[in-house]
Amino acid sequence: MQQIAQGAEAKLFQENEMILKQRFEKTYRHPLIDNILRKQRTRQEARILEKLSAASFPAPRLSDFDDKRMEIRMQQIEGPLMKDVLHEKHAEFSREIGRRIAELHNKNIIHGDLTTSNMILAKDTSQINFIDFGLSFTSDKVEDKAVDLHLLKQALESKHHLIFEECFNHAIDSYTEHSENGASILERLQKVESRGRHKAKK
Ligand SMILES: Nc1ncnc2c1ncn2[C@@H]1O[C@H](COP(=O)(O)OP(=O)(O)OP(=O)(O)O)[C@@H](O)[C@H]1O
Ligand SMILES: [Mg+2]
Repeated sequence: MQQIAQGAEAKLFQENEMILKQRFEKTYRHPLIDNILRKQRTRQEARILEKLSAASFPAPRLSDFDDKRMEIRMQQIEGPLMKDVLHEKHAEFSREIGRRIAELHNKNIIHGDLTTSNMILAKDTSQINFIDFGLSFTSDKVEDKAVDLHLLKQALESKHHLIFEECFNHAIDSYTEHSENGASILERLQKVESRGRHKAKK
């Protein structure tokens, strides 16, 4: 088994076109709390991946999970991370990202960590696949959807500074076209952002 990545919470291994994601102990947390959190995130990620495959949403298919070993096994999506290719066709990719987020939100799935490191441009289908659903949850609240978009905006701004405004505008246009409730969510996004600005001034 070959380790391919280590994130903040998990180590990822690749074996026979499968990915094993193993959440390791965080020693700065109390062991009981750490166990609860890792169990929750492992289960939640598995549950959401199952929902997404049932809906044919482009995300890895779940193979199995074990909430004692804190691991999930899923399909490997081959291809570059969106963070490394966004600039190549930024308008088209940003529109696709916006449309896919609208599809998630229409199913009341909040991703929770929308960054271009959590998206892979699949080599075989040329579709943008979403990964890393450990912080995902279900909610029909306009607020949760707006915050999800706000996180995307911040991620674009920090990692794709030169094209970020264009990218975010394309993503939002396409989000609005495909969202069932786009107008209220965008209105809330404005409020979320003005809250952020007030906080920054303090
Ligand atoms: N199904 C997959 N197919 C291909 N590569 C993957 C897959 N899942 C994860 N990866 C690779 O591993 C990296 C880290 O995975 P992931 O984002 O799920 O973990 P993380 O950032 O540590 O997550 P967490 O927020 O749960 O701590 C990804 O950026 C990607 O390069
Ligand atoms: Mg990640």
